[in-house]
Amino acid sequence: MSLNGKHIIVGITGGIAAYKTATLVRLLVKSGAEVQVIMTPNAKEFICPVTLSTLSGKPVISEFFTANTGQWHSHVDLGLWADAMVVAPATASTIGKMANGIADNMLVTTYLSAKAPVFVAPAMDLDMMAHPSTTRNIALLRSYGNHIIEPAEGELASHLIGKGRMEEPENIVKALDSFFSERRPLAGKRVMVTAGPTYERIDPVRFIGNYSTGKMGYAIADEAARRGATVTLISGPTAIRPKEPQVEVIDVESARQMYDQCISRFGETDIAIMTAAVADYAPAEVADKKIKREKDEIPQITLVKNPDIAAALGKEKRPGQILVGFALETNDESANALDKLERKNLDMIVMNSLRDAGAGFGTDTNKITVFTRDAAKEYPLKSKQEVACDILDNIAQAADCAQCDK
Ligand code: CTP
Repeated sequence: MSLNGKHIIVGITGGIAAYKTATLVRLLVKSGAEVQVIMTPNAKEFICPVTLSTLSGKPVISEFFTANTGQWHSHVDLGLWADAMVVAPATASTIGKMANGIADNMLVTTYLSAKAPVFVAPAMDLDMMAHPSTTRNIALLRSYGNHIIEPAEGELASHLIGKGRMEEPENIVKALDSFFSERRPLAGKRVMVTAGPTYERIDPVRFIGNYSTGKMGYAIADEAARRGATVTLISGPTAIRPKEPQVEVIDVESARQMYDQCISRFGETDIAIMTAAVADYAPAEVADKKIKREKDEIPQITLVKNPDIAAALGKEKRPGQILVGFALETNDESANALDKLERKNLDMIVMNSLRDAGAGFGTDTNKITVFTRDAAKEYPLKSKQEVACDILDNIAQAADCAQCDK
């Protein structure tokens, strides 16, 4: 069992399903996990803390201070101690607090401090479950990278029948177990990903940019983190954030800033994946005041070349390092991609064509062909999440080869 030796926080909130959490704690302990139970004050109305401290072998934490000793329970230390946190049952109220950062009890405070993956097993009446507020809060938790263990359908405490019954403890343990036993083939690898557009300033209110949203690069960064890599994402201006909390994001604006960050980090990188749509040119001068409309004169903007980040890394590349580029093309796709592979000394280039429906900027899908020096693999239209998996499968293969060449 992959739970052996894992530190798991079990958070219990005030719902009838709290009685099932005693079994959950028992099963986790039987799997070899160390369990620390945290209860909200309301949870104690539903199940007795003594039951849980006996099953877990540790005093249950519920308050910020132990009343008789004045001992302070550090949510920060608990957050760092945990390999995973499971909130089961999670009531609509606690889900709302977690989604919105309302840290008025030990459980939510610890949740906000937790660096480890968090699993949430909702339990509530079917109408509460279906309420737009609950739906929105659960979607928010998902967007933070939390894992939602969907409630089952069946008879609820209200005797109504519908969705809202907390998943059985055996299945919650299975969800945790499969999370920890997933293959993590990129463990120990340092991955750097560039993503999004770059903005090249013209004056304080204007810039030259492009339509890149960064979705593909963020999906790759998330997937690499899921596979165990230490990921740094160097991101141009985008509206999205990684789903995996362990991805380190470095926000930049211009190609020059992206170049500086990439160059300073490349030495300690094993795999660099360049998905950013970098502007090839920038205004030679940035006006320090807004350029005003002139009556007779049309302003001219002189451009200068930006550094080619991928090509610069290609020059610095050591044996064993892997450099992957992207090519978004509109014509002569394969020839252009292969030319970039050579010119920038890449090990792999991922080509997508604007001629393919569903590929390119802003979509949630992509259709790619992966070129290495001696092979080409064409894939059908897939979600960007699936495409990220395909790309990382190819990179893992190349990494194995690079390891052999070392
Ligand atoms: N790239 C980069 N720095 C640049 C331009 C591009 O790192 N200044 C990277 C991109 O992130 C991508 C690859 O190089 O991985 C190819 O980008 P693309 O814009 O297609 O290449 P260019 O060399 O700019 O060619 P084109 O003439 O098609 O714009």
